[in-house]
Amino acid sequence: MDVVHSVDRMREISSSHRRAGETVALVPTMGALHAGHLALVRRAGSVASRVVVSIFVNPSQFGPEEDLASYPRDLQSDLAALEPLGVDHVFNPDASEVYPQGYQTRVRVTEVENHLCGLSRPVHFSGVATVVLKLFNMCLPDYAIFGMKDYQQVRVIERMVQDLNVGVEIVRHPTVRESDGLAMSSRNRYLTSDQRKRAPAIYATLKRLKNDVMTGLRDAAVILERGRRELTEAGLDLEYLNVCDAGTLDDVARVEDTVLIAAAVRLGAARLIDNVLVNPFEEEDA
Ligand code: PAJ
Repeated sequence: MDVVHSVDRMREISSSHRRAGETVALVPTMGALHAGHLALVRRAGSVASRVVVSIFVNPSQFGPEEDLASYPRDLQSDLAALEPLGVDHVFNPDASEVYPQGYQTRVRVTEVENHLCGLSRPVHFSGVATVVLKLFNMCLPDYAIFGMKDYQQVRVIERMVQDLNVGVEIVRHPTVRESDGLAMSSRNRYLTSDQRKRAPAIYATLKRLKNDVMTGLRDAAVILERGRRELTEAGLDLEYLNVCDAGTLDDVARVEDTVLIAAAVRLGAARLIDNVLVNPFEEEDA
């Protein structure tokens, strides 16, 4: 497994793979890898002949009050976790090469970002869209794998790729969970043991709401009322709970197509998000 720091070298490597008729799948990450990230890496290996994992803690997606300085960084243990998975290249550029002096361009997906997490994190999704487009231009992938845990991020990227004619196929991968249902996250390590015990209530509630919709409940106000009550009773400080259109993320009053039920809660120092996609009109779960 080859660790690449230079942008020029990364582009050369990917170009030569593509010239040789190989396909390249990119898994963008900020490191502090857990089993959720590793599932995306395995998925990448199943869609393309070469796998690139980028590890870059992207400053432009953190707000001034957010955890950029304290975000967990441990390249050596990340490399050890990736080594057995048959990853070809780990791309770990320096922030000074990604954002050199004079850097001033940002990509904004103006409507999709204006919902859910975007409301409390105003610069976040433009930072994500910008760095992901840059990573695509640096790594030249055919495919890029993103986790559904960050569903709004997936929609921002899908919309950007469509709007800007980016030639990368976006692959969605399901959320990987702990055995008690808590979505894996690099930020779960901020939880105290008492908070960790309360955290599974997020997914437990989302699953019950999904079941309510699958068995006939359609009124978003009723769904939200049930969900808010359960989350509050579980001692969670709710930032948002929404029932929204799975494409635009606009709130819906009634479930008439595939919806996303998404929640964000604050639990001590951590802010945890989770979601379920629900389509009661198809036999298979969406
Ligand atoms: P990061 O939080 O490191 O996540 C990297 C990828 O792993 C994202 O696609 C995320 O959705 C996915 N992921 C995280 N936890 C997951 C879980 N429990 N199950 C499935 N997938 C999971 O997301 C980012 O980094 C950044 O915003 C990035 C896209 C790299 C841009 O900087």
